[in-house]
Amino acid sequence: MSDDMQTAVDAVIKSRKSIRAFKKDPVDPKLVEHILEVASRAPSGSNMQPWNVYVLTGNALKRVVDATCKAFDSGKKYEGEYKYYPDTFFEPYLSRRRQMGWSMYGILGIEKGEHEKARLQQKRNYMFFDAPVGLIFTMNRGLPFGCFIEYGMFMDNIMLSAKSHGLDTCPQGGWSDYHEVLREVLPIKPEELVVDGMALGYADTEATIYKLETEREPVSSFTQFIDK
Ligand SMILES: Cc1cc2nc3c(=O)[nH]c(=O)nc-3n(C[C@H](O)[C@H](O)[C@H](O)COP(=O)(O)O)c2cc1C
Repeated sequence: MSDDMQTAVDAVIKSRKSIRAFKKDPVDPKLVEHILEVASRAPSGSNMQPWNVYVLTGNALKRVVDATCKAFDSGKKYEGEYKYYPDTFFEPYLSRRRQMGWSMYGILGIEKGEHEKARLQQKRNYMFFDAPVGLIFTMNRGLPFGCFIEYGMFMDNIMLSAKSHGLDTCPQGGWSDYHEVLREVLPIKPEELVVDGMALGYADTEATIYKLETEREPVSSFTQFIDK
């Protein structure tokens, strides 16, 4: 691999960030298919390839958004089929999560206690943040927990390939909470577990939320180099 290629890969990884406002411009379906084909080069234990994707555009996207926003507005509590967050957050994850929330709501001018504004921002998840393409990821529920490892690699490949083609993404765990609603409007089989969703499209770089940048802990905080 050439030095240029290594630098390009690092640059794509470092330039990816979660986008929460998209332009309405459509994405060429051939490009979406290409990205999925590239992403499917992700490694998986014994090459099991546990992924399954619903690519939503046009009327299908609208049907899913309408049904899920209606469910969201109903106030009924929906829950995912697997535990994504701990029941009680603890350090250092609690502080990191709070920091992320404060940064996002700070940029949007949503202050502590402004519950309705926060709810409306949360609801934007279920509009795929206006992206022209919504992805819903499922996995056969007979597969064990370990398959989430390779599923994450597959999803990251999608985000990075998309970025390298000038597209942006937001991975969205929130879609798994609404699996019951998704099952009503999509041909998801009972044996499929709804893993996640993802917004895909061209970033609206003029949107206020586009300014959001997240930080990372230094390598020394999560790594021990051991040679003895
Ligand atoms: C599996 C997964 C689920 C996520 N779910 C959501 C979500 O439901 N809504 C959202 O706005 N962001 C979601 N995110 C984005 C994270 O908030 C984001 O990745 C994190 O804050 C780091 O920021 P960055 O992606 O911009 O680097 C999710 C990310 C991952 C990896």
